[in-house]
Amino acid sequence: MTAVGIDAIEIWTGNLKLDLPGTFAPEKGEDPEKYTKGLGLTASSFPDSYEDIVTMAANAAHRLMERKGLEPEDIGRIDVATESAFDNSKPVSTYVAGCLETVYDGDFHHANKGERKFACIAGTQSLDDAYNWIRAGRNRGRGALVIATDTALYARGDAGEATQGAGAVAMYIAEDPDLVELSAEQGYGSADETDFLKPNQQFPSVDGKRSVQVYLARMREALEDYESVAGDVHPDDIVFAPFHTPFPGMVRKAAMLAYRHITRDTAIEDELAEEIGRQPRPEAFDTDDAYRDALREYMDALKGTARYQEWYDATIDPTLTLSREVGNWYTGSVHVARVSALKTALEAGRDLTGEQLLVGSYGSGAQAEIHAETIQDGWEDEIAALNVDEQLANRYDMSWDDYEEIHDAHNHDMDVDVEEFTTPSEEFVFDGWGRMGERK
Ligand code: CAA
Repeated sequence: MTAVGIDAIEIWTGNLKLDLPGTFAPEKGEDPEKYTKGLGLTASSFPDSYEDIVTMAANAAHRLMERKGLEPEDIGRIDVATESAFDNSKPVSTYVAGCLETVYDGDFHHANKGERKFACIAGTQSLDDAYNWIRAGRNRGRGALVIATDTALYARGDAGEATQGAGAVAMYIAEDPDLVELSAEQGYGSADETDFLKPNQQFPSVDGKRSVQVYLARMREALEDYESVAGDVHPDDIVFAPFHTPFPGMVRKAAMLAYRHITRDTAIEDELAEEIGRQPRPEAFDTDDAYRDALREYMDALKGTARYQEWYDATIDPTLTLSREVGNWYTGSVHVARVSALKTALEAGRDLTGEQLLVGSYGSGAQAEIHAETIQDGWEDEIAALNVDEQLANRYDMSWDDYEEIHDAHNHDMDVDVEEFTTPSEEFVFDGWGRMGERK
């Protein structure tokens, strides 16, 4: 069977940067280590006044098309995943196609376009849709453009304000991919949850602590469901495990539970059970407070072991490098984690062809998905072509006043006119309704 997967990937960060320990924490009267050590973040990306989900998506897609020599006729499908959409009818993919059509000779009239919504997992669901479309033979030799784009902003004063971010990830899904092949096997964990909602409102209503528990519970179900179709996962089978990363501290928790599950290591649990007087494995994972306390003790014990730390440093830590610098990109976040791991490996001169990734996606509301990816022999060229370091270094570092101003400007309820902090350079810019997506 011909391999189907991600042929190419591109990242586009918002052009502004908020320094969390240096600018945000002092203003909030908080210890900077809450950010660097607790949440695991040093900075967040923000959109400048001329950027939004459409421009970031179109810029990522344009860069991808240019690099791969793709023309509109090569793309039979455009799906945009976002939880920051501004239009309840017309999908963001049509706006993005409109931008791209201004710079290519051809058009996208032949392409099937849509918009996927299920909080942060929608980017992965769009990959699944593209995979299924190609596998079904409906693609007529064409590939699919999948773009995950979000401005993850929270109301000022909300606890989530610490975990904001903005950026887009564009991916080309095709047969015989250069980057990774997607597994046919997937596992799901899904339940009707109210941990994070945006019912006709711009900023989310979040029960932050509960959202962390729901993430862990659904991810565990998804892993078990995945193993029921793909067989047991063993730690040695996985080179990296990119997870949805709202902030790296979240993944640190998920990694410990995943490790416990895939090692089926009862030794440490038995030790702990003796210490705390019960097995730390009750069924009611997300509702039982006593279990949560036991689990925290378990995690503290596990963290201290050399074999866990070694596995974490090799398999998880490299997935978090970029996220520490950009914050939460919602739908793009797990795809940034994949790039982060591969980029770290490239810089270390490792040969990863044929190795497996175990990818854990999550969306509040809530659903988790686990699938595997096999790294293809074009991965080094694909990752080497990214200019993400340059993009991050070029971001404008905002003062607190700048931050408040730009946050107000992106608040749809406020009519604020803000100057640009950066100068657009050969990119699509938001230039007012009706003229959006102009290239400057
Ligand atoms: N030094 C070291 N560590 C410190 C510290 C210090 N001085 N001060 C605090 N910490 C640690 C805390 O102990 C805590 O770690 P643990 O969770 O391991 O205990 C961590 O830093 C965060 O501190 P708090 O819990 O006090 O932080 P908070 O009350 O401000 O809230 C949050 C954190 C709930 C994640 C909040 O930022 C939030 O609501 N974020 C948005 C929701 C979210 O991202 N949820 C994640 C799961 S849902 C999801 O994944 C979907 C999505 O993308 C939104």
